[in-house]
Amino acid sequence: MAASRPVTLITGASAGIGAELARVFAANGHTLVLAARREDRLQALADEIAATGRSRPLVLRVDLQRPEAAADIGAALAAQDLEPQYVVNNAGFGLSGPAAEIDRTEQLDMIDLNVRALTDLSLAFVDSLTRHHGGILNVASVAAFLPGPRMAVYYASKAYVLSFSEALHHELKSRGVRVTTLCPGPVKTEFQARAGAAEGQAASVLSQPAIKVAQDGYVGLMRGRRVVVPGWGNKLVTALIPFVPRSLLFRVVDARQGRRRSPGT
Ligand SMILES: NC(=O)c1ccc[n+]([C@@H]2O[C@H](COP(=O)([O-])OP(=O)(O)OC[C@H]3O[C@@H](n4cnc5c(N)ncnc54)[C@H](OP(=O)(O)O)[C@@H]3O)[C@@H](O)[C@H]2O)c1
Repeated sequence: MAASRPVTLITGASAGIGAELARVFAANGHTLVLAARREDRLQALADEIAATGRSRPLVLRVDLQRPEAAADIGAALAAQDLEPQYVVNNAGFGLSGPAAEIDRTEQLDMIDLNVRALTDLSLAFVDSLTRHHGGILNVASVAAFLPGPRMAVYYASKAYVLSFSEALHHELKSRGVRVTTLCPGPVKTEFQARAGAAEGQAASVLSQPAIKVAQDGYVGLMRGRRVVVPGWGNKLVTALIPFVPRSLLFRVVDARQGRRRSPGT
């Protein structure tokens, strides 16, 4: 029986950092599977990549908040004789506002996507990642390094991603599987509108373009780096966080998140 063909699965490829990750992986010769809910966006990106002479990515319309999502993706790949060499868990969203006041169901949806789906997809394909000497790129955030008042569940979800992925980096090393956690600072994408964050919140000196973040993540994964923080400003911030008194950190994050759009705007 012929061996299944290796592919790179990228979640959340219909926008922002995920779309740029797809462009970077494609430019480096990887055959892609693009997953998200907005199929039209994925098809347009697949067309764009095919037009550059690369193989056309497979598009999977999937809602990763559903518990069966990883199993469905596995079945869709197996049906095409494909199996992951790389898994890029990029899909995620945030919500701004005091945790006790904003919608609880939406906050639990965030855990389903940012934590549950990422964990499932990180573990589901370890055998094929091992066979193809591949790896996992999990997208966390600078938010993973500290608690975040007014975005408490989001920051906690990213702390989970960082902790889990660093441990997995250690566990899977002996199998030859790379696991890298990408921790961007602010990036101007659809993320801010989805989170209900203030206009211009990504427009800080720490802000990086999505393409730069994607390139840094790709290089870091290929080099087997444990954690990648794009940009010198963000590297400095994450290095200093352990030395800043927690009470001061909370005031700074609270004030920053406080510049939030009013509900419904
Ligand atoms: N932008 C920032 O400032 C920033 C900073 C640090 C970390 N990050 C992280 O970077 C990652 C990408 O964010 P981004 O800034 O590129 O945001 P974005 O532009 O809003 O893109 C989010 C992506 O996730 C997908 N997604 C959302 N819910 C989904 C679901 N239920 N099922 C499947 N796919 C889903 C979206 O696709 P559909 O809507 O089509 O499903 C979209 O492709 C996230 O994990 C985010 O936490 C972002």
